[in-house]
Amino acid sequence: MDKVVVSLGGSLVVPERVDEQFVQRAADLFREISKKTKIFLVVGGGRLARSYISLGRKMGASERELDEIGIKATRLNAQLVLSAVGKGAFPGIPKTTSFAVKKGEKYRIVVMGGTEPGHSTDQVAAELASKVGADRLINATNVSGVYTKDPNKHPSAKLLEKISIDELTRLVGGSYWTEAGKTGVLDPGACGLIQMHKLKTLILNGRDLNSLRGAIEGKNFIGTTISV
Ligand SMILES: Nc1ncnc2c1ncn2[C@@H]1O[C@H](COP(=O)(O)OP(=O)(O)OP(=O)(O)O)[C@@H](O)[C@H]1O
Ligand SMILES: [Mg+2]
Repeated sequence: MDKVVVSLGGSLVVPERVDEQFVQRAADLFREISKKTKIFLVVGGGRLARSYISLGRKMGASERELDEIGIKATRLNAQLVLSAVGKGAFPGIPKTTSFAVKKGEKYRIVVMGGTEPGHSTDQVAAELASKVGADRLINATNVSGVYTKDPNKHPSAKLLEKISIDELTRLVGGSYWTEAGKTGVLDPGACGLIQMHKLKTLILNGRDLNSLRGAIEGKNFIGTTISV
């Protein structure tokens, strides 16, 4: 049975408010695919995390405290996704990747959020992918993949079907975590782990459920393949 780790962007779960329809549809898809493929979901913070982080920053919190706030937001989002998935999933939110690995031995789906300050959910997903020996790491976000530039700022940006991990690392500005709540197509910390463990990584728009399905099943999808 294939094992797949999905970094489920908080940008999909909570773009402004919770996208109830997306959460329900994605959960139905995960439940169905999990009959043939083991799925580990790492849910991001989205607007929930960003709004709390910006308030905390205004109130003088340290980057570490802000990251704690962000982690709690990701776990709240993860809990909601878990409720939507329901049957077949481990009925808890692991706080470490090791615990998630253990629960994955028994359950078809494991849902988690962040783990500790300095580790984005993209990075947690990469860590989990290396620990479980995942066949694929999928980064589901709110744009169709990696573009030459931020497509929300540069309408002329082009979608890349392939990019090497070295180029992607340059594009996202390094391989280390820098600040709480930073946005970007893939977190720098995750790039470091993808390179180190040679993880097969695909980036796509999670709202395109056909692509999400294709990527999880190892079939066709629209998005970017990272070469390592
Ligand atoms: N070269 C690029 N290619 C694609 N997207 C980019 C690029 N540079 C910046 N971005 C931005 O990255 C955003 C996605 O990252 P963001 O962190 O906001 O979402 P997420 O990772 O899905 O959600 P979360 O971080 O809450 O889990 C896109 O909406 C886009 O504006
Ligand atoms: Mg992000």
